[in-house]
Amino acid sequence: MDVTTFHLDDGTAVPRLGFGTFQLAGDDAYRSVMTALETGYRHLDTAQGYANEAEVGRALADSRLDRDEVFVTTKIRPSNAAAADVIRSTQMSLRELGTDHVDLLLLHWPAEEVAPLGETLTAMSQLQHDGLTRHLGVSNFPSRMLVRACELAPIVTDQVEHHPYLGVAAIEEVLAARGGFLTAYSPLARGKVADDDTLRAIAADHQVSPAQVTLRWMLQRPGVVTIPKSGTPERIRSNFDVHSFALSDVEMARIDALECGGRLIDPDFAPDWD
Ligand SMILES: NC(=O)c1ccc[n+]([C@@H]2O[C@H](COP(=O)([O-])OP(=O)(O)OC[C@H]3O[C@@H](n4cnc5c(N)ncnc54)[C@H](OP(=O)(O)O)[C@@H]3O)[C@@H](O)[C@H]2O)c1
Repeated sequence: MDVTTFHLDDGTAVPRLGFGTFQLAGDDAYRSVMTALETGYRHLDTAQGYANEAEVGRALADSRLDRDEVFVTTKIRPSNAAAADVIRSTQMSLRELGTDHVDLLLLHWPAEEVAPLGETLTAMSQLQHDGLTRHLGVSNFPSRMLVRACELAPIVTDQVEHHPYLGVAAIEEVLAARGGFLTAYSPLARGKVADDDTLRAIAADHQVSPAQVTLRWMLQRPGVVTIPKSGTPERIRSNFDVHSFALSDVEMARIDALECGGRLIDPDFAPDWD
């Protein structure tokens, strides 16, 4: 299994360990993305709702990396789900990011109270057709909604909360059957993994951190891409350093057993989860 890259059927290489930018603002966002790119991350995750697309774009430009070397994802705000707003807001995102296309464009949350899913995905498909995004996906879609989305557009991922305390097997199955990948957000359970006894014990055996163990656990499972966030340079670097060790089947199973339905992100507008 390739623990560094997920290959889509069209040959697109998706770096499996990306960098999340939620709650990074202003100079913090710029500096953190710069540090991430210097460290070797080649996949950035932002969103219209994070109000940091301009800083992500500035870091991308200042890194002097070729645009094609970095896989960039942004997400459409649910309030922009009507067709005209999908187009207008994505054009604005591209201006902020300083690029003529993103690699992946997601609908951030289901938004059927704003527009029917078919309308949103048809507008997103038009953007893909016009070259403003290479690929399409959704976020925070439970499996039955994901199936519906896949019938309406060529969806390659569903970005959802996933970490050792929250499994998402039903979503993984839908994506695997279609050659897509799961994007795991909040993979470190927002830092909670650092205090977990099981993860700490496994980490001590490998002389790494519980966060490194958690990220390695993700990468040793097929079809999972993940986007940890940190605003701390040392953690940005160590979270990327997950290739000097490997987890045994027994260690993988011990981490699997931490699953307890421990969802952290459940706003009042969330859909009915699986
Ligand atoms: N689609 C969605 O609706 C959605 C929702 C949530 C998140 N996301 C995406 O997923 C990304 C990651 O999720 P997240 O930011 O919610 O959570 P996360 O990556 O699980 O955790 C981030 C938190 O963990 C801390 N941390 C990072 N590395 C650590 C380490 N090595 N040891 C201990 N603590 C560490 C960070 O602190 P410091 O920053 O202080 O280091 C921060 O408080 C987001 O940034 C965003 O891009 C998407």
